Amino acid sequence: MIVLGFHSGHDAAAAIFKDYELVAFVKEERITRKKSDGHKIPFDSIQECLKIAGLNILDVDAVSMSKAHLPIKYYKKTSRWQDNINKLIGKFKVRILATEMSKQGVYDALEILNLDYMKKDLGLCDDVVFDFANHHYSHMLGAFYYTQWIEKSLYITADGGGDGAFYSAYYFDGKSLIEIYGGDKYIYDHEKNYASIGHAYSYVTEILGFTPNKHEGKITGLAALGEPVFKDKIVEQFIITDTGKIDSKLESEKALYELLNSMKENTSAENLAASIQVATEEVILKWISSLMKSYEVEYIGMSGGVFANVRLNQKVAEIEGIKDVFIFPPMGDEGLSVGNIIAFLEKNKGLKRLIKNRKNMKIPYFGQEYSSEKILNEVPKGMIVYNKDDYIEKAALLLKKYVGAIFFAGMEAGPRALGARSMIASPSDRSINDSLNQRLNRTEFMPFAPYVRDIDARKIFKIEDSMYNACKFMTITTDVYEQYVDLIPAVVHVDKTARPQIISRDDNYLYYDVLTEFQNLTQLPVLINTSFNAHEEPIINTPKEAFQSLLDDRIDFLIFENFLVLPNKLGVELS
Ligand SMILES: [Fe+2]
Repeated sequence: MIVLGFHSGHDAAAAIFKDYELVAFVKEERITRKKSDGHKIPFDSIQECLKIAGLNILDVDAVSMSKAHLPIKYYKKTSRWQDNINKLIGKFKVRILATEMSKQGVYDALEILNLDYMKKDLGLCDDVVFDFANHHYSHMLGAFYYTQWIEKSLYITADGGGDGAFYSAYYFDGKSLIEIYGGDKYIYDHEKNYASIGHAYSYVTEILGFTPNKHEGKITGLAALGEPVFKDKIVEQFIITDTGKIDSKLESEKALYELLNSMKENTSAENLAASIQVATEEVILKWISSLMKSYEVEYIGMSGGVFANVRLNQKVAEIEGIKDVFIFPPMGDEGLSVGNIIAFLEKNKGLKRLIKNRKNMKIPYFGQEYSSEKILNEVPKGMIVYNKDDYIEKAALLLKKYVGAIFFAGMEAGPRALGARSMIASPSDRSINDSLNQRLNRTEFMPFAPYVRDIDARKIFKIEDSMYNACKFMTITTDVYEQYVDLIPAVVHVDKTARPQIISRDDNYLYYDVLTEFQNLTQLPVLINTSFNAHEEPIINTPKEAFQSLLDDRIDFLIFENFLVLPNKLGVELS
């Protein structure tokens, strides 16, 4: 069975499952090259996914989507709709399905949708099955499906909001998934309180001059430089109920914004960032602790934008009694394209079969792969191509002074570069954070992340058992052992933490071997890994984009398969 999933809100994306196997997953921005592209049907990533999976749209048996943005023409012209249609046309081209269902008190999306237009626009078969998944349930299922804990597992989600909810919690006892909080009924709750901890973090991002829903990571980095002077004032706005919900004392989003904005008048950006960071940690930890009073928990799965917060995730992994945590790597809304399909499989084939097919997530290289022939065809003029046996040694040698990039397999899913489209550099000098960020036109307060071989990881980073799996996906910070802090200063934050990615040779031989050679040359056990893109540009996807980066002087050299490509002037150093 071929199921196509997509999300049409912000950070739109598409994915395809063949039976129970994810075979393609691409975020719309990576194809259209517009950061966080969305609020539309992601036609470009749907086409890309079909190409990756070697399928035709007519092969698709079912489509599962979020209750997000759909063009006006897909809605039935009800009398209420007709009343407003003249006002709407030309003003809004899309409407949010969940909002329309809520306003019209409709429980089945098909009551207000006419999917003939969508079938036609996408070229789908007439008998294709449509399903609409719940936002938080989809977030949660991404974490559930890619863990294999057999019982005592808590799955939680938190984000800026979706389908009327801001959080959800589910408990897996080995047989069933018990909904503690979240679910479809929140779509119809018109009395709900909109002041959520996810909103609070986004508001601080905005108040400090950055883009909400995009630059929250900068605030996490900035937080380590300040004191959490307003932490208590933020925490006291949130109440944890006996039923395991997070509620708020504030009556509206506006009140939350005004409270946080007033703090800015009385403190530095660093202190406000520290306040929201520590407050978020405290609220989420209190929430988990309250859930742990009612449920026996040894494992915690997390998803939703709030859990892009690597520092928060470390705190969760450090909770006493927790044996393992997992953060779904595409934890933001792009991951809903995958969760929507899992929700469809659960609904149509049953939870029992879904449980049987759960698996641990492999390194998520789900984009289009390119043959060396195709990549070589794109090498620009004026570049030297090495393909000798020692190309990896040569690349490692260059890394002592220069910045390289790796182009391997298909592009990563999720916000982090994990060795498929990564820029790599030496961690020995802290100043590279400024010089490389300047070269890429980026502003960051957190140092670059390191990657490390599995055989070395625990010598350098204090990786508890509960953190190890999350470290494969760079979704968590760890402490750094004192003796390494000064040896690898470019990847250690002021609070002596880092965000390591643990890599095995089976995951990516090229990424692994270049680090081995670098280590032989320098005795340094890590390399910087930063995403292969410039400021505000989505992560690179195609060979052409990779070589453009070389031409634009963002990187000094590129390696792929058994090739090293560099400009003539740098080639002199190797001859
Ligand atoms: Fe979300």
